[in-house]
Amino acid sequence: MATNDTGFFANPVVKWIEYRLPVFSTIDHMVGTKYPTPKNLNYWWNFGSLAGLCLVVQILTGIVLVMHYTPHTSMAFDSVEHIMRDVNYGWLLRYIHANGASMFFIVVYIHIFRGLYFGSYKSPREILWFLGVIILLLMMATAFMGYVLPWGQMSFWGATVITNLFSALPGVGEPIVTWLWGGYSVDNPTLNRFFSLHYLLPFVIVGVVLLHILALHQHGSNNPLGIDVKGPQDTIPFHPYYTVKDAVGVGVFLLLFAFFVFYAPNMLGHPDNYIPANPLVTPAHIVPEWYFLPFYAILRSVPDKLGGVLLMFGAIAILFLLPWLDTSRVRSARFRPTYKWLTWIFLIACIGLGYSGGSPAEGLPLIIGQVCTVYYFLHFLVLFPLVGWFEKPDKLPASISEPVLPKAAAAAAE
Ligand code: HEM
Repeated sequence: MATNDTGFFANPVVKWIEYRLPVFSTIDHMVGTKYPTPKNLNYWWNFGSLAGLCLVVQILTGIVLVMHYTPHTSMAFDSVEHIMRDVNYGWLLRYIHANGASMFFIVVYIHIFRGLYFGSYKSPREILWFLGVIILLLMMATAFMGYVLPWGQMSFWGATVITNLFSALPGVGEPIVTWLWGGYSVDNPTLNRFFSLHYLLPFVIVGVVLLHILALHQHGSNNPLGIDVKGPQDTIPFHPYYTVKDAVGVGVFLLLFAFFVFYAPNMLGHPDNYIPANPLVTPAHIVPEWYFLPFYAILRSVPDKLGGVLLMFGAIAILFLLPWLDTSRVRSARFRPTYKWLTWIFLIACIGLGYSGGSPAEGLPLIIGQVCTVYYFLHFLVLFPLVGWFEKPDKLPASISEPVLPKAAAAAAE
């Protein structure tokens, strides 16, 4: 890999290592001066690096938490209380880890919405998008199993309800559930295997994220205009321009994160999880963590159990098909007058689903959930292809520089 012999690379130690192991030039090509990046990226493009930060924070805090946690049904709850009360800064570690999961989902949901709005899933970034959807699935599995570990009431009953969903599968359902549980109910073997997988999966996510970044570098970032880079005039080096811009995002993100950790550490959790798991007492309302609520609403919007399960998994599986369901040749919603509105309606539908998922499955919330479920699938399966065919997109600029340079020239002339 080519290096330059100036600045950092002129340092004799760096040179010595680089000659034998080209780590520095690799980093320089991935996120440094040798990575040409579209010059018009806005703050929506901060969320990839923020997701990376969340992953690192979860792994680091998780590793230390495990040093004090006991994965046994008779001790798990108490060991978490021991972390909160006796371990030095254990409360901080736990609150960072628990709220970190929520922050991770906020960041990744925005990251996905950015992709939807600016058409980042479209050719040639399909595999980049697929890897993203796989990461999302792995994140969901990891978060679900992590929530079981404190062995509170919601841990136990959430695990019971969700694993039981597989029993809806005809024929194989019951044996699958017994196999998942490692017995005939959610119990110690279940807790043990969830603990094992909860520790393992984040490292699998790291591997998939590396592939995600590799795929990103194959064609480079998309951008708010959704048009291809035409030459060096359209790009700037990632470092220092976007490292600094990403650092601004990290600062704002940490403020929000700190607000939750220090001022509202239990706001996003459920109070019932401070009651030790009791298989003999079912909570009045079993609700998953907020980031699962839209999917929970889809599950409950169908009166039939199997239908609900299939629809819920279908809601994520459908994301794999987006590159083909979207028939428009234009990527960015900025030039797609109808599609732009539809993405915002889609966002409202997702919020509606979240509201419905967090409410008892009856009356108005249930109806809102059903309407939003219909829209969710209508949006992707029907409107995506139709709008692509019938919408008349606005005129695209000739290049990324075109809309910027006249303004810059006018400003310089003033
Ligand atoms: C651990 C979770 C994830 C990490 C660490 C991550 C990381 C990144 C990074 C660093 C970038 C480049 C910066 C940016 O464009 O924001 C990126 C781009 C991208 N990611 Fe992710 N990502 C994650 C999850 C996802 C998910 C769940 C999806 C979609 C389902 C996704 C889809 C994309 C797409 C389409 C791009 C290209 C965006 C563009 O160039 O316009 N990512 N990701």
